[in-house]
Amino acid sequence: MTFENLAPLLEKVESLVHQAAVLTTPRDITVTAKGEKDFVTNADVAVSNFFIQHLPALLEGSQVLSEEAPPPSNTQNAPLWVVDPIDGTTNFIFGLPVYCISVGLLWQGQPVLGVVYNPVMQELYTAYKGGGAFLNGVPIHVNTDAELKSTLLLAETNPYSNRTQTLTSAVIGELFLHTVDYRVTGSAALDICYLAAGRAGVFVTEQITPWDCAAGLAILAEAGGMATRWNGEAMDLQTGAILATNGLLHNQTAVIIQQACTR
Ligand code: IPD
Ligand code: CA
Repeated sequence: MTFENLAPLLEKVESLVHQAAVLTTPRDITVTAKGEKDFVTNADVAVSNFFIQHLPALLEGSQVLSEEAPPPSNTQNAPLWVVDPIDGTTNFIFGLPVYCISVGLLWQGQPVLGVVYNPVMQELYTAYKGGGAFLNGVPIHVNTDAELKSTLLLAETNPYSNRTQTLTSAVIGELFLHTVDYRVTGSAALDICYLAAGRAGVFVTEQITPWDCAAGLAILAEAGGMATRWNGEAMDLQTGAILATNGLLHNQTAVIIQQACTR
C-alpha cells in the first residue's frame, strides 16, 4: 500500500460509514452492561458486525479491531482497521445527539486514515496521511490559541472506577481554573475532531482506548495538532491517558496536569 492510494480508499470507507449510520437510528435500543457504567447496545453490535464483514475487502490482508468484537489473532504486520461502532454509547442510550461512528486505519502501527461521523449532526470528519483534514469536505485546522485563558478545554470523565474518577476530577478541576471553560461531550472521538476543527485548544482524558482515538489521531495530525501521553511520551494506541492540543498549548498544559497529578 502506498499513500497515493489512500484517497480512493477513504472514499470507500466514507461510503461504508454512511451505510452503517442507518443502523444507529435509535429505535428499540437494547442495552447490556459490559462493566460498571460501561454499556453496549444492539446498535453498537450491528455496526460492529457490518464493518467486520465489509472493511477487510477494501484492503488486501487487512484485519479489523472493533470495540465490540474479539480482537483479531495476529495483527503484527497486517494493516489494521480500528473501529468504534458507536463512540458516545451513553449519550446514544440517553438520547443525547452527540455520538459517532469512528473508523481508523493503522499502517505499521501508525494512524494513516480516519473517518468520524456524527449521524445526527451530519458532521463527517475525514483525513488520510498527507491529504489534509476535512469536515464535510471543507479543510479544517487546529486553532491558534496560545494561552490557556483564551481557549476552551474538552475533557472526558472516565466513570469506570474510583481511581479514574478521582484523578480525572483533579486534572479537569485544575485545568478549569486556567481555561475559558470546559466541556464534556461524552465522545472522545468527537472531542479530538472538535480540537482538529479549532473549536477547542485542548483535550484531556485519563483513559482512551485505541478505538476511541485511532481515526481521530489521523485527523488531528492532518489538522496540525499533536497528541501525547500526559507525561509527554508518544502515543502508542494502547489504552492510557491522552493530552491532545493545538500544539501551542501542549507544554503549558502538560505542566499543569503533572502538578494536579502529584498534589
Ligand atoms: C467512551 C466515550 C467517552 C469516554 C470513555 C469512552 P464508548 O466510549 O468515548 O467519551 O469518556 O472513556 O469509553 O464507550 O461510548 O464507546
Ligand atoms: Ca463504543
